[in-house]
Amino acid sequence: MVKFEQIKGFVFDLDGVIADTSVYHGKAWHQLADELGVTWTEQLANDLKGVSRMDSLELILKAGGKENDYTLEEKEKYAAEKNTNYLNLLKDMDKSAILPGMADFIASLEEHDYKLSLASASKNSPLVLEQLGLAQYFKNRIDPATLKHGKPDPEIFARGAEVLGLKPEECIGLEDASAGVKSINGAGETSVGIGDPEILHEADINFTDTSQVTLDNIKKAMDKVEMS
Ligand code: G6P
Ligand code: MG
Repeated sequence: MVKFEQIKGFVFDLDGVIADTSVYHGKAWHQLADELGVTWTEQLANDLKGVSRMDSLELILKAGGKENDYTLEEKEKYAAEKNTNYLNLLKDMDKSAILPGMADFIASLEEHDYKLSLASASKNSPLVLEQLGLAQYFKNRIDPATLKHGKPDPEIFARGAEVLGLKPEECIGLEDASAGVKSINGAGETSVGIGDPEILHEADINFTDTSQVTLDNIKKAMDKVEMS
C-alpha cells in the first residue's frame, strides 16, 4: 500500500457513502421487484449497490429468472418507473440525510487542500448533491452517461483521479459497495470500504460506518498496514 503522505486526492462514491440515499434506491427497487414478482433478498439488495439503473434492472430480472421476458422498451419503462419512485422518496431530502461525520470529513479535506471528485454511477447525483448542500465541494464529477463500463469496471474511479490531474496511487477511493471497491482496486487507488467488512473484504481499509471516516483514522489504518 502507498504511504498516507503520498495521498493528494479523494474520489467519492455518493449513495451510501455521503448520504443514505442507497436506502431509497433499495426501497424503490424493492417496490419494482414486488411488482415484477421477483423475490427481494438481502443478497440482491447488496448486489445492486453501485450498479447503474439498467444493469440493476437486469440483475433483478435475472434473479427472478425473467431476463428474457421483456422487450427493451418495456425494460426502459420499468427503469423509468423506478426512478420516479426514487425521486418521490428524495422529495423532502435535505442535509440531514448526510451520513454521520461526512460533512465534517469533507470540510476537513478542503481545509487540508486535498482534491475531491465524485465517482457516482447515479444520473441523479447533481440533484442529490444540490439538496444536501454539498455541490460546491464536488466541482469535479464524472458524468455516468459518458462511461463505457459500469462498476466493478475501474473506468469510473480511474476517471475520478484523471479529472483531478492525479495519478491513481495518489488517490483514495471511498465506497459502500462491493462492486465499487473492485472498481477502486482495479484503478490502482487505495480503497476504503464503508459497511460490512465481510461484504467489503477486498477493501484496503475497512470502516463499519461513516462516523469512523476521518483523516486521522485513515492515516492510522494506512500506517498500520505498512508496518505489518
Ligand atoms: C448508484 C447507486 C445505485 C444506482 C446507480 C444509478 O451507483 O448506488 O443503487 O442504481 O447509482 O443511479 P440512478 O440515480 O442513475 O438510477
Ligand atoms: Mg454507493
